[in-house]
Amino acid sequence: MPRTREHTDFGFRRVPLEHKQALVDDVFHSVASRYDLMNDLMSGGLHRAWKDALVTAVNPPRARPAPEAKASARPFALLDLAGGTGDIAFRVLEAGGGTRATVVDINTDMLAVGRARAAERGLDDAITFVEGNAEALPLPDRSYDAVTIAFGIRNVPRIAAALGEAYRVLRIGGRFLCLEFSTVDVPGLDALYDFYSFNVIPALGRAVTEDAEAYRYLVESIRRFPRPDAFAEMMRAAGFARVSFQRMSGGIVALHSGWRL
Ligand SMILES: C[S@@+](CC[C@H](N)C(=O)[O-])C[C@H]1O[C@@H](n2cnc3c(N)ncnc32)[C@H](O)[C@@H]1O
Repeated sequence: MPRTREHTDFGFRRVPLEHKQALVDDVFHSVASRYDLMNDLMSGGLHRAWKDALVTAVNPPRARPAPEAKASARPFALLDLAGGTGDIAFRVLEAGGGTRATVVDINTDMLAVGRARAAERGLDDAITFVEGNAEALPLPDRSYDAVTIAFGIRNVPRIAAALGEAYRVLRIGGRFLCLEFSTVDVPGLDALYDFYSFNVIPALGRAVTEDAEAYRYLVESIRRFPRPDAFAEMMRAAGFARVSFQRMSGGIVALHSGWRL
């Protein structure tokens, strides 16, 4: 009997599940050097406010002055999945003085930009960059206080596997936070957002990175990502407790939260 192949979405295309990662990798190899600039241009700087909301939710403890700090106190440990060029890790480290961050990403080019940016900021001692797949983390169980993933999960072919891994590496009492594009339901804004997404963003991508296709994928993959209530259900299925989400900017993005209890 012929075996049916499992398929998934790559933007609006259906592709064999095992082909998706290589297609995603091509997108981020192509845009890595201009990735941060494009985020500012596409979102008009709004991605900074969305990321700030994520960092506020992580709430890394501020470093205490020496006499108050216990010699035995271990640093707050952050794992940023699909961390790319390091943006979330830098923000969390800057917000919480005593934090250690691990950035995992599957793409060497994105990590190379991240390493260079960390060195420029003098943060290289506080961050470890790891090349790895969010679906199978090369990291021990129960070792992080917070696990974050920003604009990464919709690129991962096996989302349930990545959620399971995030849960596995969190300490009991640790929090998972996922920032992702979501569904715009505000009448008027939805039409404007569609026009902007399908016309302006690929053109901007072509002008800045010479790769309109990469940014067409970005826009299409957003439309294929589960609605926030469906994603919340996937988080519960992975074991997370007290699952909630908060929509921002009319639903352009949502911040999802869950705890390992
Ligand atoms: C849109 S970027 C987000 C980067 C960063 N988190 C940010 O907010 O700026 C998506 C990232 O997901 C990474 N990625 C895609 N699939 C992955 C996987 N299976 N495991 C780990 N990282 C992955 C890509 O290499 C890329 O760096």
